[in-house]
Amino acid sequence: MSIQIIGVIGAGQMGQGIAQVMACAGYQVQLVDSSADALDKAVIRIRQSIEKLTGKGLLEANNDYLAAIQCSTELSSLTSANLVIEAATESEKVKTTIFQALASICPASTLFASNTSSLSITRLAASIPNPERMIGMHFMNPVPLMQLVEVIEGLQTDKSTTMTVMEVAKRAGKISIPVKDRAGFVLNRILLPMINEAVFVLEERNATEEQIDQIMMLGAAHPIGPLALADLIGLDTCLSIMDVLYTQFGDSKYRAAPLLRQMVDAGRLGKKVGQGFYHYER
Ligand code: NAI
Repeated sequence: MSIQIIGVIGAGQMGQGIAQVMACAGYQVQLVDSSADALDKAVIRIRQSIEKLTGKGLLEANNDYLAAIQCSTELSSLTSANLVIEAATESEKVKTTIFQALASICPASTLFASNTSSLSITRLAASIPNPERMIGMHFMNPVPLMQLVEVIEGLQTDKSTTMTVMEVAKRAGKISIPVKDRAGFVLNRILLPMINEAVFVLEERNATEEQIDQIMMLGAAHPIGPLALADLIGLDTCLSIMDVLYTQFGDSKYRAAPLLRQMVDAGRLGKKVGQGFYHYER
């Protein structure tokens, strides 16, 4: 199916990036967030990111990419979207509520994708009519720079839905790899236990934050240490993924580090709030 208008729900760090790459790929983008403040901040960050990429010669200087993005706090602005990519908070309840509301206002032909890090696409799809149009499009953070999109087919996803979203990802300059609908998919099933282990090491005071990150960068050639990466992802998102892995696989190796949970309880969610394992100037 031909995609011209893409709805993006959630204007946080992921939604901003998704809206940006889709606008830069030539799609009309309708960006929705329940918070007007989040939308205002998103527009500022997208402008800054586009300027940076233009400065590096990665985007055309005379193209007003931002003009392709319309913002709204209302889901009803998405009725004419051909594809809606949801990147709201990582909570099954939040996402199910959004998709049910969308299903009641969008035609049955509108494709729905979730950027969830760990939730079951099959379960999200089961909550709406026409589940064959639901799929996972798992972008990486920061979206404008990271090439991968994991494409997750739920049990009822139609092949045509998969082909269409892979085409969209390609046009946005991404490489998509289809994976099965298992908790954490592939990337986070491998990545998050490593981050969680780093938090256990910190909790045991075996090493400081900086030492842990340096060890993984110098010793394992990681471009960023696990604690800095946790701050970038968002500690609430990390915790939510660990809880899903633990619940779905029932294996104690996936239990979240108590310090990770405490950090979330304390509101130290990482870079997006200015404080996580490290402090960030905002
Ligand atoms: P975030 O906390 O930066 O942004 C979430 C946004 O969703 C907020 O602006 C919030 O106002 C909005 N929101 C919440 N409920 C809403 C609703 N009912 N309607 C409209 N907007 C709503 O979170 P982030 O990091 O952007 O994550 C979003 C999604 O992307 C999550 O599912 C997360 O698991 C996934 N993800 C996150 C990655 C990361 O590195 N942070 C990487 C890949 C996927």
